[in-house]
Parts: sequence; C-alpha cells; structure tokens
Amino acid sequence: SLLKGHNIPWVFQNQKHRIESSLLNIPVADDAEVSTRKKTFAEVQTERQDQAERTVLIKCPSKINEKKLLQYLSSHGNVKSHFFFENRGINALIEFSEKSSIASLQDAVGIPSATEHHVVPFKSRLFTFTLKNPVSQHVEETPLHLSPQCHIPVKDLIQKLCLADSISSQMYMLLNEYQLTEENIKLRFLACSLVRDFTRAYFPDSTVKPFGSSVNTFGKLGSDVDMFLDFHNTGKHATKMKKGPFEMEYQMKRLPSERLATQRILSVIGDCLDNFGPGCVNVQKILNARCPLVKFSHQPTGFQCDLSVSNSIATRSSELLYIYGCLDSRVRALVFTIRCWARVHGLTNSAPGTWITNFSLTMMVMFFLQRRSPPIIPTLDQLKELADEKDKHIIGGYDCSFVSDLTKIKPTKNTEPLDVLLAEFFEYFGNFDFRKNSINLRKGKEVNKPEPSPLYIWNPFEQDLNISKNVNQPQLEKFVAMARESAWILQKEDKTQQIIDKEPWGLAALLIPFGRSNSSKMKNRKGIGSETIRGLLDSLKLNNANSQQKAVGK
Ligand code: GTP
Ligand code: MG
Repeated sequence: SLLKGHNIPWVFQNQKHRIESSLLNIPVADDAEVSTRKKTFAEVQTERQDQAERTVLIKCPSKINEKKLLQYLSSHGNVKSHFFFENRGINALIEFSEKSSIASLQDAVGIPSATEHHVVPFKSRLFTFTLKNPVSQHVEETPLHLSPQCHIPVKDLIQKLCLADSISSQMYMLLNEYQLTEENIKLRFLACSLVRDFTRAYFPDSTVKPFGSSVNTFGKLGSDVDMFLDFHNTGKHATKMKKGPFEMEYQMKRLPSERLATQRILSVIGDCLDNFGPGCVNVQKILNARCPLVKFSHQPTGFQCDLSVSNSIATRSSELLYIYGCLDSRVRALVFTIRCWARVHGLTNSAPGTWITNFSLTMMVMFFLQRRSPPIIPTLDQLKELADEKDKHIIGGYDCSFVSDLTKIKPTKNTEPLDVLLAEFFEYFGNFDFRKNSINLRKGKEVNKPEPSPLYIWNPFEQDLNISKNVNQPQLEKFVAMARESAWILQKEDKTQQIIDKEPWGLAALLIPFGRSNSSKMKNRKGIGSETIRGLLDSLKLNNANSQQKAVGK
C-alpha cells in the first residue's frame, strides 16, 4: 500500500529497549531506520528540506476517494509518499519524486477569474481537490487512515499509563504518545518550505529552516514551529566577493546595526505574509523583543509559527540536543516525562513569564544525565574534544564546536532503569543547592553562581549568559517543592494496593495535580491531606525523601 505506516522517527537502541518497545507495541528499528539514526543532524535536515520542496498540500472533500486522487496525481509524476490528516476538513500531503511534478500540477489547475476573486498572482503549493461528478465517488471499502497531528489529552494518557507493567514502560508509553510522528515532521518542514516560497520573492537566496523542538528530537505533537530565515549562502557569496574590485550593491546595503537589519527584513516578510500568504493569519510582528520575530498561524498545516532571522547559536543548541536525544533511548523518555510533569503542575506555561521554559528544563535533564555515575551523556567539553576540522564553528567569538558524527561517541556503560532515573531526578533537584550553585553543561559540573539569579543555567555557547534568567524565586521554589513531593510519592508507592483501589499509580499518580484527587485520596486513607504534608515538608526543609517520610509519619 502507498500509505506508509505510522513510524516513530527516532529509534530505540539496545536490546533491552527493544524488548521494552515491543511490549508497548512500538515499531522496532529496522535497518533503514538504523541508518537514519546514524545520519548527522545536517544530513537529516538537508534530506527533510529537499523532501518538503517536492511536496504539496491538497484539501480534499469529506468523502475522498484515495485511489482516484492518486490516479489524477500520477499524470503529473510519481507520488513518493502521501498521507491524510484532519485540519478543518481532510487534507492530503503529497510528496512527489520530482520537483517538476509540482510545476506540472500548477500549470494544470484553473485559476479563479480575476474579475470575480481579485486574486493575488502567486502560484502556491496548496490545492483543493474536487470532482465534477461526486456521485461517481463511492465510499471506499477500507476507511481512510487519518494520521493524528496532536497527542491524546492528559486524562486519557493517565488511564493508558495505568495499564502498563512498570514505571519505565509508562515513560516509554508517554514518549510514544507525545513525540512527533514521521508525518508531523514532514508537515513541519512543509510549513517552512511554503514560507520560503514567499521569502524568495524578496530574497532569492534565502531559505527557511526549522529549529528548536521541531528538529532537536524533543518535539511534542502540538508544539509550535520555530523557523528562521537563513541567508547563509548569500553570506558566503559576499565573503568571496570581498577580494575582487566589485561589491554587490543589493547585498551590501548597510544599516547601522544587525538588529535593525533583522527588524527591517522581518517587517517586510511579516507584511508580505499578512497580505498575500495563503492561510497565514493572525500575523504579529514582535520586532522589539530581544530576539525579533514574526508570529502567525499557518492554517493549511494547522501550526502556530515563530519566524526569526538566522541565529547560528540556536541552530547549534538544536544540534546539541539532537545528539543527546539520539545517544540513548532513556534521554528522550526522561525529557518527555519531565516536560509533561512540569506542564501538569503549572511549572511551565506556553506564555512567556517568570517560569521555567521547556528549553531550560530540558537542559536541567541533560545536566542530571551528565551527573549520573557512570554518566549517561557526555559533557559539551567532551563532545568538543571529539570534533574534527569540519565540525569547527566559531560564532561571535565563541567556540561552538562539537562532534557531529554520532558514531564517534562511545555508548554509556550506565544501565540504570528509567524508573530509577525518574526518582533520582526529583531527588537531585529537590535537594540542589540553587542558592550557591549553577548548572554548567559544558563542564558537566555544579559551579558557583556567577551572579545571584535564582536559577542559573549557563548558556552552553554564549558562556556569559544565563538561559533561565527569567525564572524568579517563587517559581524556583515551586519547582523544588513539586520535585520533593514527587520523589516522596514515588517512594511511598504501593503499586499493588493502588491497582486494587483502582488508583493511578507510578507516573500516572505524578501527572495528577497534587492539590486535587491525590489529597482527597490521602485524606481517606491516612487522615492527612497532601497540602498538610507539603506544608510540613516545606517548614522542615528536609534534605531527602527518606527523612521526609519519617517526619510525616511522626
Ligand atoms: P517547545 O516549543 O516548548 O516544544 O520547545 P523549544 O525547544 O522549541 O522551545 P522554544 O520554542 O521556546 O524555543 C525555540 C528554540 O529557541 C530553543 O530550542 C532554543 O534553541 C532557543 N531558545 C529558547 N529559549 C532560549 C533561551 O532562553 N536562551 C537561548 N540561548 N536560547 C533559547
Ligand atoms: Mg518551540
């Protein structure tokens, strides 16, 4: 069948996890997928971008005849892959083998008459498929498979988790429900590619590339698409030209600062998307932010998008996280679990504010994994030592080099199961000396805070910046309190009893807001509410969950 299976884009590594994943009915890596894993970040990005350029989006009638659609399309070229998804109706993403098929399709479609529709003369890659004689379409024997583009609600997840046989399986289950699918990744790259069609009208050499969680292996279904405009090729060309007697006027127009240039570029692109971008709505130019950007909803793909101008440091961060995410299957499972836990307890929020960001939280998990004995992931300095000549990146005076070839990194000897890591994570940060110490991923060590921000996480590349400068003391305290309570819940766990009582257990118990159902259950059973317990714990400021439990028992 032409319909591709619902692949998971990243694969499980060792035998133990293969068994784990087969229990969970997660597809296990085949040879093709293993070779995907070995690809460098740059190779994966190039491949995806190329794929996106050969792709179109087709709006379909609700009773779509798949065979007919493919039959029509085949007259324009070979369809390499396709899938259907729901987004204000049924849509099909079609990847052709050849880019020329798109031009062929564009030439074959009718353009609405200008007098009736006041069309903007721009040929897009968005199409609508309607058959003149819908009566001839009979409903197919096999129902259309719609690839899901969002994850299940937390309450459904909690129910599912209760059916697992261990906390580790619960964590892999959560990962499997939340992670980006192959289809969703294709759609993300397509959104960037469609925006690029527009930016090229202004800047012929520009490309639009995704960064952040869309590409760093930690993306969740439903998260925004961070994209940036890249003029890298233009830049290269400009440096080459320097030696000759000519300067190219259009490239060399000088503005007093890079920031102003960025703002001007984003301003015209923002206006362009707002006026003519098909399906680009709620375009907001946020040009005075620290990192100027244009926010918009891309209706055809259903994504919320943040467009900024090329930021090499952010790309390096994405690649660094990509490497960490690929090294060991426990890394992503733990990050997804902690992110979900933090969201449920209001420690993170999609709006910017004084709370911890997902990015900072991910860095905290990485740091924790560096601190295990033996470490599960290497420090950034160790990755730098493995770098060769082509991995050299000096950006704004900072050495941002690290190895790109994953096969050069020795696998960890650490075999701690995920449930242990989860409990230890809460224990570690529940007792971290945030007043004195900062988190440094380059060294993989706790170091004295260089300045008194409540939470200090060194920017791995711009060494004098704190990526969690926005976090205030109350938010940090809330994080510590939740970590301690979670450590305690995991420790007092009695899975058998909880299953008998039909109560959420393990990870499921951690994903229920602590003030609510947990406290009522605890009241019934032990005559003491979790609010009371938390108050006690806070006032006692105890150092480990062991003594916490004893203290509550007194
Ligand atoms: P989600 O969107 O929450 O799934 O995660 P994300 O990693 O994509 O985070 P976000 O959209 O907030 O930011 C996108 C990217 O911008 C991140 O992956 C980082 O590379 C970068 N970024 C975000 N916040 C910071 C920050 O405070 N400091 C630095 N240096 N980079 C940041
Ligand atoms: Mg993001």
